[in-house]
Amino acid sequence: MIRFSGVSHRFGEREVLTPFSLELAERRIAVIGANGSGKSTFARLINGLLMPSAGQVWVDDLDTKSNGKAVRGLVGFVFQNPDNQIVYPVVEEDIAFGLKNLKVEKGEIAGRVAASLARFGLSHLAKEQAHRLSGGEKQMLAIAGVTITQPRYIVFDEPTTLLDLRNKRLVARTIDRLDETAIVITHDLDLIADFDRVLVFEEGRIDFDGAPRDAIARYLELMA
Ligand SMILES: Nc1ncnc2c1ncn2[C@@H]1O[C@H](COP(=O)(O)OP(=O)(O)O)[C@@H](O)[C@H]1O
Ligand SMILES: [Mg+2]
Repeated sequence: MIRFSGVSHRFGEREVLTPFSLELAERRIAVIGANGSGKSTFARLINGLLMPSAGQVWVDDLDTKSNGKAVRGLVGFVFQNPDNQIVYPVVEEDIAFGLKNLKVEKGEIAGRVAASLARFGLSHLAKEQAHRLSGGEKQMLAIAGVTITQPRYIVFDEPTTLLDLRNKRLVARTIDRLDETAIVITHDLDLIADFDRVLVFEEGRIDFDGAPRDAIARYLELMA
């Protein structure tokens, strides 16, 4: 469970998230809202990329302020632009990166990388230069690289924004099948239709919190 307790966030003088408390326990949670409403700030608070200006963020029993490293092990993060996430030139090396970091044994790394490549339909691209992959393939590579270290939660920050419709659907299907809990920030309303819970952000506060249908209706009202 992820828990925000009296959390707010400011950049300098500017409060970009006004104080809120919230518990997230569902498997599929979406965050929608206007540009600049605070969604990415919210996302980065979850894995300790950002610390709250006030209050606490808890991931399971870990406070992000005092357990940054453990929290980042529990919470994976997939960005809008996979280019920002690809570290190594060759696909299979890039997927192996997280395991090397964790000092997993070489023999075990090879097996887990092969399984991950297969799981995300990337086996035929194992030896390919990562930068030559299509946008959709790169996003699958990013997801492979994050899931391989077995986080419990994965935060996606606009994972389909840069993709064509076919690849949007591929990423949506992939998220749907993940065992991990997913928190997905998106403008893609099709992606979240079957989610368990949707938060609508507006000007730094949670304007609505509920089922997809009602949340989308509220979002469309705000956008009108
Ligand atoms: N590092 C930063 N320094 C100063 N202001 C920031 C920074 N990051 C985001 N902001 C501001 O905080 C507000 C919320 O940003 P963000 O969380 O990225 O919104 P969203 O993801 O919903 O578009 C915006 O007004 C943005 O300009
Ligand atoms: Mg954002």
